[in-house]
Amino acid sequence: MNHAATRTPNHAALALFGGPPAIASPLPPVVTMGEDDVAAASEVIRSGVLSGYIGAPGEAFMGGARVRAFEAQAAEYFGVRHAIAVNSWTSGLVAAVGAIGIEPGDEIITTPWTMAATATAILHWCGIPVFADIDRDTFNIDPASVERQIGPRTKAVIAVDIFGQSADMAALREICRRHGLKLLGDCAQAPGAKVFDRMAGTLADIGGYSLNYHKHIHCGEGGVLVTDDARYAKRLALIRNHAEAVVQSESPADLANMLGFNFRMGEIEAAIASVQLAKLAPRVAARQRAAAQLDAGLAGLPGLKTPRVAVGNTHAYYIYGLQVDVSALGLPRARLVEALKAEGVPGLVGSYQNLHLLPMFRHKVAYGTGGFPWASPYCERTIHYGPGQCPVAEQLHAQTFLGLALGQFAHGPEPIGQVIAAFRKVWAQLDRLRPEPGAVSMPAVAEIPSLAPAPTQGMQGTQGTHGGRRLTAGATA
Ligand SMILES: Cc1ncc(COP(=O)(O)O)c(C=O)c1O
Repeated sequence: MNHAATRTPNHAALALFGGPPAIASPLPPVVTMGEDDVAAASEVIRSGVLSGYIGAPGEAFMGGARVRAFEAQAAEYFGVRHAIAVNSWTSGLVAAVGAIGIEPGDEIITTPWTMAATATAILHWCGIPVFADIDRDTFNIDPASVERQIGPRTKAVIAVDIFGQSADMAALREICRRHGLKLLGDCAQAPGAKVFDRMAGTLADIGGYSLNYHKHIHCGEGGVLVTDDARYAKRLALIRNHAEAVVQSESPADLANMLGFNFRMGEIEAAIASVQLAKLAPRVAARQRAAAQLDAGLAGLPGLKTPRVAVGNTHAYYIYGLQVDVSALGLPRARLVEALKAEGVPGLVGSYQNLHLLPMFRHKVAYGTGGFPWASPYCERTIHYGPGQCPVAEQLHAQTFLGLALGQFAHGPEPIGQVIAAFRKVWAQLDRLRPEPGAVSMPAVAEIPSLAPAPTQGMQGTQGTHGGRRLTAGATA
């Protein structure tokens, strides 16, 4: 079915200039909760037991019946020995970094293209985040750049399966094996994605998923850790629930990082999470169908590159990640975003933040004002954060990345047809969007205010390269 053919003709005036928008009325939101979720939550409320935890030794230390049932279900679903439910994936990341035995001043390498929690989880244990560049095709951490960042204090790597596709876990596992590092997987955005026959997130020493409101499946706020390692599973459960009150050993090795938190998931969230998990596969499949329709419908539009899926990967499409060749188009990305938004395209992500350029990192202000933990005697080398450190990530951020958040509208064939029609209409009239000769210049990375050099920081001086992965052909025009 050619959905694009039935839409506003490509020659109708652009909505930006007062013409009829290609998408005449707002696309409906995605519906994630059903009567089965309502029934599960109601049952818990009627029981009166909204949490089964006690932060002291004993049976209730591991949580209530629904939490345990959800954990058993998640372990089976993701194909791991242990699943540990937590009250957010941020909590899960903090627990994971603690569980691997990080020492103050240890460095953990991660990607600048992720949510801030990936990096702050490291700081919460007085560890030092170090940023590697990303791969231009998949937007995931570039293993070659990771290897260049390894120093004497590197303890681990946190790979992030950004936008719904697994990072290059084979390459990262090999690097970690060679250098004796732990590998953590932040799979917040990619539950249900696969790497060959394995679930994304399960190829790390500890991985896990977010269950927050914006994700493929959710329970409002929540997360679940996955691991095959019984010792990590135990430590994660301890950190989740006031470990210090429970650990009876006197040994420093057992006490280390047993500064527990309250990361406990409630029974209502667990009951909903169980119902939601059963819906994950069809939801991911629906997004994959939407992505295939977009791939076909946007193919051939000049200067627009559709997402690349690495060989062996399936993509869960949290975000459908495009790239625009702004030089070839002679247009700044912001102008395209403006025109597409005016045509009614929902869920446009005009850029993605670079964590290494956040003020907290550039000025190294986290705990108090004195530069802790970077300035502590536990840190043996000075880590700098600043522009030029992750050139691929910075260029994508500043100029070329364009995402479509599929979770922001019901992405069935009809709405996706309308989105395609809107893109085709804008692309048919690019000439009208181009600035008068000499009127506007393309923004260079250095001109973007948030990327201007910090006054007191140097650069780490790394160079990004591509990870050398084999990729399936995407539509590049
Ligand atoms: C890549 C990534 N990491 C971590 C998180 C934090 O998860 P949560 O919101 O469940 O704490 C998110 C959530 O958006 C995320 O996308």
